Amino acid sequence: MLIRLIYLSRAVDPQTHALTEAILRKAHVWNAENGITGVLCEGQGVFLQVLEGERAKVTRLYARIFADPRHQDLELIHCETIAERRYAQWSMARVSLSDVDPQTRIEWPEFDPYSAHGQRIMARIDALVEKGRVVDVPPAHGVPS
Ligand SMILES: Cc1cc2nc3c(=O)[nH]c(=O)nc-3n(C[C@H](O)[C@H](O)[C@H](O)COP(=O)(O)O)c2cc1C
Repeated sequence: MLIRLIYLSRAVDPQTHALTEAILRKAHVWNAENGITGVLCEGQGVFLQVLEGERAKVTRLYARIFADPRHQDLELIHCETIAERRYAQWSMARVSLSDVDPQTRIEWPEFDPYSAHGQRIMARIDALVEKGRVVDVPPAHGVPS
C-alpha cells in the first residue's frame, strides 16, 4: 500500500549548501534502494518534505528523519493512501525556498506554513514543482510506481 506524507520542520543551523548536500546524498541512496520518492523544499529556515512509498518504508524513514538533530519542531502536515505517485521520477528532488526569489519566497506572516492548512501547503508545493522550481534533480533510479 502506497502513502504520501508531508511534514514541516525548522533547521537548527543555517541551511548551507554542505548541509543540503549531506542530506540529499544520503536520501538518494537510501530512497532509491527502498522505493521512496519525493521532494525536499528547503530555505528560509524551514524544510518541507514530501515522502511517497510503501507505508511501512515511509513510516520507518519518517521515524529516522524525526529523530535527526539537524532540524526541530517537526509537524506532520498530511498523510494519505495514494493510488499512484506524484513524483515517481525523483528519489528526492530539491526545491529552493529562496528568499531572494519572489516565486519561491515564503511571505511571513501572510503564509506561515506552521499555521497554514495541509491542503494549502500541498498546493504551494505543487505550484513550485509545476513552475519548474526544482533546482536539483537526482538521477532516475527506476523506482516502480
Ligand atoms: C530535512 C531532512 C530530510 C531528510 N530526508 C531524508 C530522505 O529522504 N531519505 C533518507 O534516507 N534520509 C533523509 N534524511 C536523513 C535522515 O534523517 C538520517 O540522517 C539518515 O537516514 C541516516 O540515518 P542513520 O544515521 O540512522 O543511518 C533527512 C534529514 C533531514 C534533516
